[in-house]
This record gives sequence, C-alpha cells and structure tokens, in this order.
Amino acid sequence: MHGDCCHNTNPLAHLPAPSLPGNFDPYQFFKNPRLLQSAVPIIPKPIVQQTALPPLIIKNHQLLPIVQGGMGVGVSAHRLAGTVASLGAMGTISSVDLRRHHPDLMAATAKSRDKAAINAANLVALDREVRAALDLAQGRGMVAVNVMRAVAEYAAYVRQSCESGAQAIVVGAGLPLDLPELTAAFPDVALIPVLSDARGIALVLKKWMRRNRLPDAIVIENPRFAAGHLGAPRIEEINAPQYAFPRVIEGALQVLRELGIERERIPLIAAGGIHGHEQVRGLLNLGASAVQLGTPFAVTEEGDAHPEFKRVLAEARPEDIVTFMSTAGLPARAVKTPWLESYLLKEEKLCTKAHKRDCIVSFDCLHQCGLRDGDAKAGQFCIDLRLGYALKGDVQRGLFFRGSEPLPFGRAIRPVRELLQYLLTGFAGVQAA
Ligand SMILES: Cc1cc2nc3c(=O)[nH]c(=O)nc-3n(C[C@H](O)[C@H](O)[C@H](O)COP(=O)(O)O)c2cc1C
Ligand code: SF4
Repeated sequence: MHGDCCHNTNPLAHLPAPSLPGNFDPYQFFKNPRLLQSAVPIIPKPIVQQTALPPLIIKNHQLLPIVQGGMGVGVSAHRLAGTVASLGAMGTISSVDLRRHHPDLMAATAKSRDKAAINAANLVALDREVRAALDLAQGRGMVAVNVMRAVAEYAAYVRQSCESGAQAIVVGAGLPLDLPELTAAFPDVALIPVLSDARGIALVLKKWMRRNRLPDAIVIENPRFAAGHLGAPRIEEINAPQYAFPRVIEGALQVLRELGIERERIPLIAAGGIHGHEQVRGLLNLGASAVQLGTPFAVTEEGDAHPEFKRVLAEARPEDIVTFMSTAGLPARAVKTPWLESYLLKEEKLCTKAHKRDCIVSFDCLHQCGLRDGDAKAGQFCIDLRLGYALKGDVQRGLFFRGSEPLPFGRAIRPVRELLQYLLTGFAGVQAA
C-alpha cells in the first residue's frame, strides 16, 4: 500500500525555474545546469531538476518550501533535522528531554531525583544535538529548534538553542509572547510561533510589534489533522471551522494587511495532515509559503526514533488513531496502542481521583501537569515517561503521537530525500516492497 503516491511524472516540469538572489540558493541548479556536472549537488538531482515550487525565504535563507516539524521526545533529533537541512529544507530538533539519546547522560540521571541535574543533562544534550545537526547540514537549509511553551524549562531551552547555533526557534503548545525578549541577544535567529487560528496570530503579532519584533514565519497547525498536542482548548473544538486552512490563511493575510505588514515579510507555513504533492500545491495556492509535516518525517529512515516506533505509526489504521486530553491540559492525537487503550478505559476514574502530588520522576517537565497538580481536566499520566518508552520502541508501554491522515508511502519506511522529492514533485520514485 502506498497511499496516494502513484504519480510518476512531474506535472510541474514545464514551469520556469524561479530566479532568486541571495547566498545559498537551493535552486541554483535550475539557473546554471552546468553546476550539475561540476559539483556535488547540494540538493540531489531529482529534486532540483523537477520542482518548480517557489522557495521559502526566512531571514537570508532560501529553502525548499517544506519544513520538518519538531517532534518530541527525541523523535526529531540531530539525524532527522540535519538530514532535512542538508537537502535544503528546514529541519527541526525537538528540545524536550534530549538526554534520552545520550547513554552517558542517562547513566548519570535516569534514576536521579535531582531536578537540577536532569535539567543540566538536557541542556548538554540539546547543545550536542544542535551542533551535530549543523555539522550534518554543512551550511545548507536551516536547523531550527522546537521548544514547547508548556515546558517548565522553556526559557532555558530557548537560550541554550540560540547559544548552540540554532538558526530558528519554533514555539508551539502555548503563546510565546515573551520570545522576543528571551532571544534579544540573538537577532539573527529566526522566531517562528506555531498557532492555529487568526485570533492567536493577531494576538502574537500585536504583542511582538510593541517590542519592535515580527515573527520570521508563522506555522499554522490545524488541530483537525496534526499529531501530538493540538492547538484547540478542548477536544470538542478540534474540528471547528475557525481552524480550517483556507479560513486561517485568509484571516492571517487580513491581519497582516490591517497591521500594515507586507505579506512577504511573514511566510505562512501550513501544518497538519499533509501527505501529497497536490495538497502542497493547493496550500501554496491558498497563500501559504510552505508546508510543515510531522508524522511523514517521523517514519523516514533518518527519523531518530526506534524502528518499532516508525512501524507503529506507519501501520496504524484510521480507527486506531484517537484524540484525548494530555497531561499538559491540551487535546492530543496518538495511536491507540496497548497502554493508551487501557489508560482511556481508566481515564474517568483516574480523573475523579486526581490530587496534588510530587512529580513522580522528580523532573517537573511541565509548567502545568494534570498528574502532579491534580487537575482533573487534564491527563492523569506521566507524558515524559510514556513518550520516552515510545522513542525506544516499547509498543506495550509507549505513547505514540501521530497525525490523523494517511502517510505518503503507506507502510513503507523511506529516506528523507524521497519524501521531499515526492512532496515537491509528485514523483514517488521506485516503490519499496
Ligand atoms: C511523534 C510526534 C511528536 C511531536 N512533538 C511535537 C513537539 O514536541 N512540539 C511541537 O510543536 N509539535 C510536535 N509535533 C507536531 C509536529 O511538529 C507537526 O506540526 C505535526 O505533526 C503536523 O501534522 P502531521 O503529523 O499530520 O504532519 C509532533 C508530531 C509527532 C508526529
Ligand atoms: S509527572 Fe508531570 S511534570 Fe513530572 S515528569 Fe511526568 S509529565 Fe512531567
């Protein structure tokens, strides 16, 4: 099964290549085909030769119009983000609890009750991951770090990412109203909020404009389709019309007009449920400058999670994918694996018994945690532990975030390069068995 990946010709081949100024130009081979013979291609030939979609421009970076979204815990670390960037697109490391990828840091802190030591280990891991991704990228594309606003160490993760050389900070799961202040010493770092509706976009823009800062792009994530934490306050609202892409993109463009901001100044990046080339073109036609994908990148060969993690996501059927309340107090979407199934059966009872207690692993990862704070409206489990199990491929005990839509290559695990090529051109290449 390969979803809708049956196109084998490029419908865009006849379109003229865009002509662009600037430093690194992932489209340079369009303009000077002789470079193809004289150099190792910066973007592999098939993508370069076949896409004619306009580039995403963020600060002085010219990128392929595809963004790999940040995925915690550890699902998008240096290997995935660095590979995506090396191919000319934006790759995003998720900052949360990255020590899980570093045996030395885990040996020192896995059983620790010392919150300061756990936090310090995570900052070391974040520094290592950002530097390794930049090494892989070799100056191509862009390496971003995703920091969730809901995470207790949000400010420390933002600062560390900037100090380690991240080229963009992407903040979701809450409104990043203070991001301009936090990053004031790093004016070259692009700031990218993840928002879900025009109201949130207007709020952030107005607040940031008072500090003379504008976002360098905005990710518009649709809670109806996306994976992980969703940008709607309640489960009943995830399908609400104010989150539909046409409405949010049009609303965002209207807000920009009202605030006197040029449309090109803040590229809009649509996220959630994107799995085919026609969708990419449709969203660009609606006014987006790029698309962001999570689940399809999580299951690539270079995805940083265990192969079993990828298998669970790739083999999930529509009826296996559920939405529920996360510990962070936001709706979330995941695969109904054994742990989640049994948790959901007990959820109501657990909520009635919710009570304040110490963080069960002394990590205090969240500002607000349903389990620790005894908040009956939020999830009653430790999300850090569950996501950590999933990262290691523990199908029985893990929590496996996944979007609602089919995957570009069905159950097949394929390289990032082929995914980018397919999204940009519709060309799916040789199908895996
Ligand atoms: C396993 C997984 C973990 C995720 N973790 C985060 C996260 O830590 N922070 C965040 O802002 N988004 C997170 N996301 C959302 C993605 O960045 C992306 O916006 C979303 O998955 C897009 O929808 P799609 O999966 O349908 O492509 C996660 C997604 C997945 C699949
Ligand atoms: S109990 Fe809550 S705050 Fe503590 S690590 Fe788990 S999810 Fe984070």
